[in-house]
Amino acid sequence: MKRNVLVGIIVIMTIALIGLLGVQLYWIRSASSVKEASFRRSVNEAMAKVVYKIERLEKRRAAEINPFPGMLSFNKHLDYSLFSSTHEMDSLISLELNIRGVDTRFQFGIYQPEFDLFIMEKSSEYRKQLIQIGYAYPLFSADMFTTPEYLLIYFPYERQFLLTELWGMLLISIILIVVIVYTFSYTITVLIRQKKISDMKSDFINNMTHEFKTPISTISLACEALGDKELPRSESFYDTYIEMIREENSRLSILSERILQAAVLEKGEMKMQLEMIDLHTIIRDVMKSIRIQVEIKDGEIRTNLLANPSVMEGDKVHLTNLVYNLLDNATKYTPRKPDIRITTENSNRGITLSIQDNGIGISKQEQKKIFDKLYRIPTGNIHNVRGFGLGLSYVKAIVGEHHGKITTESEINKGTLFRIYFPYKIPE
Ligand SMILES: Nc1ncnc2c1ncn2[C@@H]1O[C@H](COP(=O)(O)OP(=O)(O)O)[C@@H](O)[C@H]1O
Ligand SMILES: [Mg+2]
Repeated sequence: MKRNVLVGIIVIMTIALIGLLGVQLYWIRSASSVKEASFRRSVNEAMAKVVYKIERLEKRRAAEINPFPGMLSFNKHLDYSLFSSTHEMDSLISLELNIRGVDTRFQFGIYQPEFDLFIMEKSSEYRKQLIQIGYAYPLFSADMFTTPEYLLIYFPYERQFLLTELWGMLLISIILIVVIVYTFSYTITVLIRQKKISDMKSDFINNMTHEFKTPISTISLACEALGDKELPRSESFYDTYIEMIREENSRLSILSERILQAAVLEKGEMKMQLEMIDLHTIIRDVMKSIRIQVEIKDGEIRTNLLANPSVMEGDKVHLTNLVYNLLDNATKYTPRKPDIRITTENSNRGITLSIQDNGIGISKQEQKKIFDKLYRIPTGNIHNVRGFGLGLSYVKAIVGEHHGKITTESEINKGTLFRIYFPYKIPE
């Protein structure tokens, strides 16, 4: 998949998600304003009823103590004695609100703006809120001769009350959005990972074809020469070409061996032939075959094999490949005059093998990735250096099979050190 397509998908999905989020928020907002309006209406209705009841009761009481109804208007003083306690007023309001489904705590007071005075109140703490943001209902508004009085009511938890009613909707929306965002980002990471793998695979195939080409064409040239009747034949003529074919053939078999190894690694079907082996013998064997490469570059390999004992439990073939891979890398990734040091030591019931070079080095971020299969550091003149990116993943797998540990220390342009610890005995 093209990079642009991926970016396009991400952008479109993000826009769609934001849009969806916006629509959700819009719906929740409008639902909440509908709720708010109906809340207000219920409060108004309830309070109209309360006001009506208060007025009726007070007037009846006034009529009882004042037998002349005409004088009612002058009976300015309404002391709400019928509601002998705030408590009774409270339950009257509470009753009316509950009937209309308003089931949240409230504060109330009877207030005379003219004297800035509370005639009655549930608690003095809420005076400010009652006056500023409370709902206000005039009492005895038909009675022109009394000082204007207001019944004020305030709901400290109005917002929360309205929200609890929307809670379910909000919760479901949040859960759905989280699920979508999660699956979306998961899909994208999988896509990106797949793309990386497919890029690496095509790199691998390119490299492989390249590596196969040389021996194949050399062999076919040799065959042509051998088949050419016009060339003078001699003992050395045959020897040269047969040697050539043999060499290239062994190169081919090493290549196919490596690819097979990679396939085996992939399936996790590594077969280990465990025996007691001498690590130093293995190192010396590998050095024989790598020395020529190092000498071509005018470099040297120095050893400091201090481990005693140097015998450990392991698979001879795999360990030989492991040391070969590390020394091969040390030579390959050191452009000028390789100075490679191999050290062994005993530590912690095992042997530690260190291989150090003075090559191009590996940055901190890359150090995590070099052990991945098919991974090759993409910078620098790496493509002048042949490789499949399989060596270190194989090394890591072998170290794992031996219950060992591998660590890397490296600095760009200074060199790299691989340190591997092997226990003497592999635990069952
Ligand atoms: N000694 C080293 N110095 C610098 N870079 C190294 C060294 N060893 C490995 N690397 C980096 O790690 C990558 C992976 O190594 P490896 O798995 O052996 O694959 P390759 O086939 O490329 O050698 C290499 O391509 C190289 O970029
Ligand atoms: Mg390698």
